Amino acid sequence: MSLISTTNIIPMPRFGDDHLAHVYAMLPLEVVDAQGVYLNTNDGRRILDMYGGHAVAALGYGHPRWVEALTKQAKALAFQTNVVHVDIRRRAATRLAQFCGLDLDTVFFVNSGAEANENALKLALKSTKAGKVVAVEGSFHGRTAAAGAVTWGAQKKWYGFPRTPFEVEFIPRGDIAAIEGAVKDDTAAVIVEPIQGVGGAIDMPKEFLQALRHRCSEIGSLLIFDEVQCGVGRTGFPFAANMYGVTPDIITTAKALGAGFPVSAVLLANHVAMELKMDDLGTTFGGGPMACAIVEAVLDIIEDENLLDNVQKRSAQIRETCLVGPVTGTQGAGLLLGLKTSRPAKEVHAELLKRGILTGTSGDPNVIRILAPFVIQREHVEMLRDALKDIGA
Ligand SMILES: Cc1ncc(COP(=O)(O)O)c(C=O)c1O
Repeated sequence: MSLISTTNIIPMPRFGDDHLAHVYAMLPLEVVDAQGVYLNTNDGRRILDMYGGHAVAALGYGHPRWVEALTKQAKALAFQTNVVHVDIRRRAATRLAQFCGLDLDTVFFVNSGAEANENALKLALKSTKAGKVVAVEGSFHGRTAAAGAVTWGAQKKWYGFPRTPFEVEFIPRGDIAAIEGAVKDDTAAVIVEPIQGVGGAIDMPKEFLQALRHRCSEIGSLLIFDEVQCGVGRTGFPFAANMYGVTPDIITTAKALGAGFPVSAVLLANHVAMELKMDDLGTTFGGGPMACAIVEAVLDIIEDENLLDNVQKRSAQIRETCLVGPVTGTQGAGLLLGLKTSRPAKEVHAELLKRGILTGTSGDPNVIRILAPFVIQREHVEMLRDALKDIGA
């Protein structure tokens, strides 16, 4: 494999130079376009994208049916408000409910992961009239007031709001014994990522999710699965809920749902949907025709191209063959995989990038995150394996 020079590190622009808010630690990479699973940079590099823009590019780049769906809808009807009937909106909601297959039959479309969680939490607090939410240590749910309140560590790092909008209690990951003491009559909801994404691709034990389900049903709290990152096929199942065989009351999802077009959704069980009253929820852009056309196309493509199967196969291949070089173990599921590293993940990430492969880091300083497009092939995993071998332990 050819080594690619990264002497051309892109310096951070000075404040004001590019008129952007400088709030991101930038990678030494300027992407100009992309095809399939490859990114092309302004300095002529071709990078294998195993990170997919934080798990978004589920179909890679320029998938002809994705492009066609967007183009066709843009010509037909680019936007209309939620207060007029639009066929593609009904079709997208029906398609998503069918794809999920868990009797979460009512869909509310919004625009981002945080917004989906914000709405899910609001619904839970409103319908149970309880005032507390239980979350899990290591979680990431977004940066808005409610989503940030249930994000582990946010208040110390970046939360910014003077107080959280409700009481929050965190329990340790997988700690079944902690559930009973935390989830009580005062608890409106438990929110959990079945596989923690930002935390490091950490899959929750099945028994933990089952125990949460049991306790929520017993108490009358709502169980919310945040599948913003792990949903819509990323585990090789429609949702992680399908993989675990545990059905929550609400699923929130985003990222792969639009595969590059911003769209998110809140999927509701019938008993939650029945509580909805006029004006309880609302959005201008959510459920726009473009987003809905893309949802329908993405789900069709995932099914028509057997991508759930491909996700499972490539995941198994990574687990079986990529325990080489600095990788000492794997965690997660499907193409939300964490490679545990013997050296700081940042170093391994930089070495992989030098060798033309973009991966992700995570909240765990010794975990590299693989969030590859569902369309990666055997040869791409072999490239990852060879690069890891080349880096050495
Ligand atoms: C599990 C999870 N929930 C919520 C969010 C927030 O999504 P967004 O950045 O679209 O608001 C993220 C983003 O990474 C996520 O991984």
